[in-house]
Amino acid sequence: MRKIIAAGNWKMNGSRDMTASLIGEIRAGLSRDCRGEVLICPAFGYLAQAAELIEGSKIQLGAQNISTEKSGAHTGEMSGDMLVDLGCSHVLVGHSERRAMYGDTSDLVAAKFEAAQRVGLIPVLCVGETLEEREADTTETVVGAQLQTVIDRVGVDALESSVLAYEPVWAIGTGKTATPDQAQQVHAFLRRTIVAQNAKIADSLRILYGGSVNGGNAAELFAMPDVDGGLVGGASLKSDQFLDICAAT
Ligand code: PGA
Repeated sequence: MRKIIAAGNWKMNGSRDMTASLIGEIRAGLSRDCRGEVLICPAFGYLAQAAELIEGSKIQLGAQNISTEKSGAHTGEMSGDMLVDLGCSHVLVGHSERRAMYGDTSDLVAAKFEAAQRVGLIPVLCVGETLEEREADTTETVVGAQLQTVIDRVGVDALESSVLAYEPVWAIGTGKTATPDQAQQVHAFLRRTIVAQNAKIADSLRILYGGSVNGGNAAELFAMPDVDGGLVGGASLKSDQFLDICAAT
């Protein structure tokens, strides 16, 4: 049985006050029957504060981006070593907002995946198609290529210490969730792609769904055989919603 993950991507939201109250509420509300893993990914500036606030809880900490470089003259960047130093265990790579707005090509995403693993961070690799790509019936081609670029760089065995997230771009922040069947179809395709290269790793890899997950739809998504949790944006900023998603694990 793969353990379900509820992961919150806070994006560029928050303040010191919000970080304190949101983590406080999540900690207080996490019941013993939340059997899945819980991960939060605040913006860089709040990682240190968040790391202190989650101490002694089951909440894990992730960053939203990582540099491929180790240190030095890279103004504005954060290295993997720094993220580890700040208390992170995970890092998102290849989020569609970074692919669309910040030049994160599939090659760069693969390099970031590798940089994360080099320092022991677990990369959460995001893949997903746009609405035009879905309507042109190229979803599998697009997400397959995004995944394969990473496998070609690091080898399929490296997926063992990673998490995959399918996030259809048309469902992110739009309130338009993929149906459980739509999600299942793409998740099963991703898993089949990996089965062909290493069946054991394919079987244990967690594949999260992201795109307008909320407290009301999490349970039916997580009930699909190849959906192993959610990568949650908007609803992860509301403790009651996020706690409902955690309960659905
Ligand atoms: P959303 O964002 O839940 O607000 O759609 C998901 C994400 O971007 O990871």
